[in-house]
Amino acid sequence: MASLKTMTLALAAVFLGMALAAPVHLHQKPVSRVLTSFSFQDCAAPSAPMHGNLSLSPDPIVLPGNITGYAGIVLSSNLSSPLKATVEMKKGIIKVPCVDNFGSCTYDDLCSFLEKIPLKNGTCPDPMPAMGIPCRCPLTPFSAFMPERTFHVSESLPGILDGDYDISAEITDGSGNQVACVKLSLALKSA
Ligand SMILES: *[C@@H]1O[C@H](CO)[C@@H](O)[C@H](O)[C@H]1NC(C)=O
Ligand SMILES: *[C@@H]1O[C@H](CO)[C@@H](O)[C@H](O)[C@H]1NC(C)=O
Ligand SMILES: *[C@@H]1O[C@H](CO)[C@@H](O)[C@H](O)[C@H]1NC(C)=O
Ligand SMILES: *[C@@H]1O[C@H](CO)[C@@H](O)[C@H](O)[C@H]1NC(C)=O
Repeated sequence: MASLKTMTLALAAVFLGMALAAPVHLHQKPVSRVLTSFSFQDCAAPSAPMHGNLSLSPDPIVLPGNITGYAGIVLSSNLSSPLKATVEMKKGIIKVPCVDNFGSCTYDDLCSFLEKIPLKNGTCPDPMPAMGIPCRCPLTPFSAFMPERTFHVSESLPGILDGDYDISAEITDGSGNQVACVKLSLALKSA
């Protein structure tokens, strides 16, 4: 069964340009956290080759605990390196700087992140092959939809992350054309 971690990895790497990558380097004792007001918006032009949707519920989500969600991603053209991603992350009204690839970062080529996803016996890790999602560039067209399901998340998040977040991420190709655009907002606080 696909774990939330794998789904998050797949989505983050392929679509969100690591915007959701958990900052595991922030070692702090995790306590119960509440995630509220999660919203996802696909802000790409209709003609852009990549589109997606993501829904998480309930609102509020308590971590550790259960998250219900669905996610979909469609790529309608071939995409080759470089795929540049620009992430802007705001905590409240403050722009979060880029530290260790977390925050308002620019990634020169997402393809090099995909290279870091280890292949298992020459194929991408589950559930990517079954969903037809490529993990190496050039990316080939695919359409993947994970119907609504419930995951148990046994980890929490460090308290230092508490706050209201607005995250926007845009991916452009080597010619500067928009490939994908997403906006996320959420609020994290102590239970
Ligand atoms: C999470 O879901 C499981 C299985 O559906 C259930 O047994 C468990 O009680 C739920 N946990 C919480 C905190 O709601
Ligand atoms: C989400 O995207 C998938 C794949 O494009 C699509 O099948 C599904 O209908 C979409 N769901 C919503 C609620 O937009
Ligand atoms: C993607 O590339 C393959 C192989 O080069 C080609 O056969 C296919 O038609 C291309 N697809 C699109 C949508 O451009
Ligand atoms: C690895 O791939 C080869 C060739 O596709 C196959 O014969 C073999 O069974 C696979 N091994 C595992 C452990 O999946």
